[in-house]
Amino acid sequence: MNLESALRYSHTLLDQVVQPGDTVVDATVGNGNDTIYLASAVGKNGRVYGFDVQAAGLAATKTQLVLTGLSLQTSLIHDGHEHLLKHLPENTQISAAIFNLGYLPGSDKSIITHAKTTISAIKQCLQILQRGGLVILVSYYGHPGGKDELRELQTFLHQIPQKQFQVLNYQFINQQNDPPILFAIQKR
Ligand SMILES: C[S@@+](CC[C@H](N)C(=O)[O-])C[C@H]1O[C@@H](n2cnc3c(N)ncnc32)[C@H](O)[C@@H]1O
Repeated sequence: MNLESALRYSHTLLDQVVQPGDTVVDATVGNGNDTIYLASAVGKNGRVYGFDVQAAGLAATKTQLVLTGLSLQTSLIHDGHEHLLKHLPENTQISAAIFNLGYLPGSDKSIITHAKTTISAIKQCLQILQRGGLVILVSYYGHPGGKDELRELQTFLHQIPQKQFQVLNYQFINQQNDPPILFAIQKR
């Protein structure tokens, strides 16, 4: 057995909570790896809401979803995740949300996630998270601005009330080159 990377572990955790028919959020679609994984996990009776500010990634993701027969259960939204609740039907409950924080490899490195909008979006996800559900953050922070976002995020996560949520930090602490860190917030 090898300990899993933060990215691999994010799917291991999601596997435990996401069921066919669920509604879930991919807050940072990028090239759609998590969107495709989630669309497959929720199946035809579920729904994935995917957000990104970059149209090119959304278009590439749409193509992949169509090719894999997963487009019907997916809504791709070209808007910042900080406007998440505006785009979801009233009274929606989600079993999971995932954020990959940083920039999209192979695209404009100046388009990064930022603490203020990231934290706003996390709070919105926590409002509609069902009991036992998970909000997962995979933080890439090696780029300019990345450590600022990480610092503010850690401060926010430490303050989440433990009676309502438990917060996990999964991190390799002896690796070079700023390996990603996973945080998981579970509603009790
Ligand atoms: C690390 S990448 C995501 C990688 C993606 N999960 C994948 O599988 O390819 C981060 C993404 O967040 C997006 N992003 C930045 N700010 C955003 C915001 N406010 N709302 C939604 N997406 C945002 C970027 O455009 C970028 O595609």
